[in-house]
Amino acid sequence: MTEAASSLVCAGCGASPERDDPYPFHCPNAGAGDVDHVLVRVLDTTRVSFPTADVSETEPFARYRGLLHSYHRGAAGGMSDTEFLALVERLDRAVAAVDGHGFAVTPFGRSKTLSSDLGFTDTGGVWIKDETGNVAGSHKGRHLMGVLLHLEVAENLGLADPKSRRDLAIASCGNAALAAAVVAAAGDRRLRVFVPVDADAGIVRRLSDLGADVVVCPRQPGVPGDPTYIRLREEIAAGALPFTCQGNENGLAIEGGETIVYEIVSDLSASGLDLDHVVVQVGGGALASSCMQAFAEAADLGVIARSPRIHTVQTLGAHPLERAHHRVQELLSDPTSPQDVDEALHDAARHRSAYMWPWESEPKSIATGILDDETYDWVAVVGGMLKSGGLPVVVGEELLVEANEMGKAAGFGVDPTGSSGLAGLLDLRERGVIAAEDKVGVLFTGAQR
Ligand SMILES: Cc1ncc(COP(=O)(O)O)c(C=O)c1O
Repeated sequence: MTEAASSLVCAGCGASPERDDPYPFHCPNAGAGDVDHVLVRVLDTTRVSFPTADVSETEPFARYRGLLHSYHRGAAGGMSDTEFLALVERLDRAVAAVDGHGFAVTPFGRSKTLSSDLGFTDTGGVWIKDETGNVAGSHKGRHLMGVLLHLEVAENLGLADPKSRRDLAIASCGNAALAAAVVAAAGDRRLRVFVPVDADAGIVRRLSDLGADVVVCPRQPGVPGDPTYIRLREEIAAGALPFTCQGNENGLAIEGGETIVYEIVSDLSASGLDLDHVVVQVGGGALASSCMQAFAEAADLGVIARSPRIHTVQTLGAHPLERAHHRVQELLSDPTSPQDVDEALHDAARHRSAYMWPWESEPKSIATGILDDETYDWVAVVGGMLKSGGLPVVVGEELLVEANEMGKAAGFGVDPTGSSGLAGLLDLRERGVIAAEDKVGVLFTGAQR
């Protein structure tokens, strides 16, 4: 067995899972001390390259397979490129059989209407990455397809027995649950979904139709934190595998999400453009963490000159990320020094409870998908903002409504969570942080149902 061209390292304590661990989702020291143990997939950039030859390939997991840990894990165990490609194709056909279509590169382009609505010049503007037509109606399936590929590779290498598969589990009330149910059904795996009491009845029906076991979790008086998440942790402790879109529960969930930005970067380099800013909505933080990591990798691999400034968006209803960002910033004597930033992040990751804790009141907003009590991937996302020059934006309901109406009027079937990045952009334009001639990327992540 050769060394894989990627590895998994805990950002909190530096530990790595055993090489032959079939489920290397958690840091081996997870739960120890007041440390934020989150595994990060690290590419050996001397051994991997960004794909340019096969950009005609329209299935993202096929096109960007050379950047996936599952691919390198498989290759190190003797799996050929042809075998991995066949695995992606088989799973993608199964996803299509469940959801009507599989994964395909999603549209990305300058919106003339939105650019003019927001007062941009002809050279500047808003570039929309439109995920509303993706599997299960959001970007979430990307995270989970990445995890499913890993599970399949572990079986292919003989590290896990396909005849005694462990159940999968997720906590979610919407897009992540739907995506998990589609991808788990495609992989022929049992899934338990923990949902809140006010989960949408139509979504719960669809989850059951897809074969998921749905468990309703009421809030317990006096117990802070998301009750679905508390139940998920119990289920994982009892042996279920985290089929989640949260890096702290499953570090391998991040790389599937990175395919969004890999696609953006491919389009940008083909058209010779650079984005100045990206504005990303944040709930648990996996989406923003994925975007930040992918832009950083693309810069390391020489595909783009530098990462754009990546700003994050939360609602007045709950903004634990903005709170953590503020506290980390207070540690910095020189915010422009990457070394200072790394030291502050390292320190913060080792004193988690001083930076991240559940939002005290029950959060409410029209953008229901980004109401997480905690930003689980906060260290990576605070780091991504500090290193790229991004800011944490907190928006009120009026801007969320306005952004959603603008998005729909511009021809996108997007829901209020999916357009909340645009609400952040409205705020940043109003404050003059983003100029009329700047080029800005916004992700429309969820479809209006
Ligand atoms: C449509 C949509 N966009 C964005 C997000 C935020 O993603 P994350 O929780 O990874 O921050 C969610 C989360 O549920 C979502 O449903």
